[in-house]
Amino acid sequence: MDLSSLQHRRILLGVSGGIAAYKACELTRRLRQAGAEVRVTLTANAARFVTPLTFQALSGHPVRAELWDETAEMGMGHLELARWAQRIVIAPASADVVAKLAHGFADDLLTTLCLASDAPLAIAPAMNHRMWRHAATQANIETLRARGAAILGPDDGALAEGESGPGRLMEPEDLALALAQLENAARTGGKLAGLHVVVDAGPTYEDIDPVRFLGNRSSGRMGFAVAQAALDAGARVTLVAGPVHLPAPQGAERIDVRSAREMRDAVLAAVADADIFIAAAAVADWRAETASAHKLKKGRGPETLALAQNPDILAEVAALDRKPFVVGFAAETEDLERNAREKLARKKLDLVAANEVGADRGIDTQDNALHLYWNGGEQALARAPKRELAGRLIERIAALHASQRGNR
Ligand code: C5P
Repeated sequence: MDLSSLQHRRILLGVSGGIAAYKACELTRRLRQAGAEVRVTLTANAARFVTPLTFQALSGHPVRAELWDETAEMGMGHLELARWAQRIVIAPASADVVAKLAHGFADDLLTTLCLASDAPLAIAPAMNHRMWRHAATQANIETLRARGAAILGPDDGALAEGESGPGRLMEPEDLALALAQLENAARTGGKLAGLHVVVDAGPTYEDIDPVRFLGNRSSGRMGFAVAQAALDAGARVTLVAGPVHLPAPQGAERIDVRSAREMRDAVLAAVADADIFIAAAAVADWRAETASAHKLKKGRGPETLALAQNPDILAEVAALDRKPFVVGFAAETEDLERNAREKLARKKLDLVAANEVGADRGIDTQDNALHLYWNGGEQALARAPKRELAGRLIERIAALHASQRGNR
């Protein structure tokens, strides 16, 4: 994992109350391991879950939890701490802290530091899924994002109360990576700044009747990770998503579709002003020739299902007169390079990201490995979490796109 952009960065980590506070310990450790200097401040509620002493040991610095602390003010005063920080990260950020920051409250040390600092803010929310979805929280998050804060997560999954939904704090390793990507983007001015990137993701469902469909096992994770990485690189992102159970990356425009034909229409509309199109969807190649309006009855249904070919979205985009930089995926079970290069040429693509799929590889998995092919080059991206791979893929796309533009 490439966390080198975190080296020597001065990061102020604000920990607010919630059971996820324990993950902030691991985050502190990972940031320090990556060479960052970390100072931690806890809210009063956070200190009920994890002690300041834990963070003191992990960060190597005294931890402040209160605004009015005379001894601490004699060391590094709170305004000095606010100036010291090159980045403020709040992980976990409770609904309460998010609300306070959105409205400019400064009634404890953490919120005061945020208000008194010019450092860019990264917020990793963690809360119950109803609190996350609440209109008040969503409005507060939008306010913060519009003001330039990076919103990291939350993840979708099991929550502390035994429920499930969006609201989990991102895993520390993913948070560290996301922060590294932010530092990277800040340093480079965002490799895709000013560009419009369209990503399609997930499976498509082709209805046979009102209750049955043809589909596939794609989870959409790779495409969603690619959309996130493009956002991190400063792009405006449109994400055309088939039926998946994933929260959209904050800041992406999400268009939900079901069938290949719906996906095609949404993609063609979105790419009209796009610079880059990344086809990460597992589009169903065939659909039922006729979808029955009524549920087919057992015994009276057709014995064979007549299929019709679906449009090839990727090939259609690549054939446009004013075509964006086009990236296709190739999932192969054998002969990776030959098949990928054939696809590059036949569909007139700019880049193919190929992976071997099998029982435990590629589809519906957390990890993936990719091999990139383009005219005149190739690059192997070793097995890694999809978020990390997506960052590397976007770096390569940005470099090729820039050199193509330079050659025009
Ligand atoms: O030819 P193959 O299906 O292997 O190509 C895979 C690539 O083409 C993927 O990027 C996929 O998103 C895209 N594709 C598409 N429309 C289809 C089939 C595949 O956009 N109908």
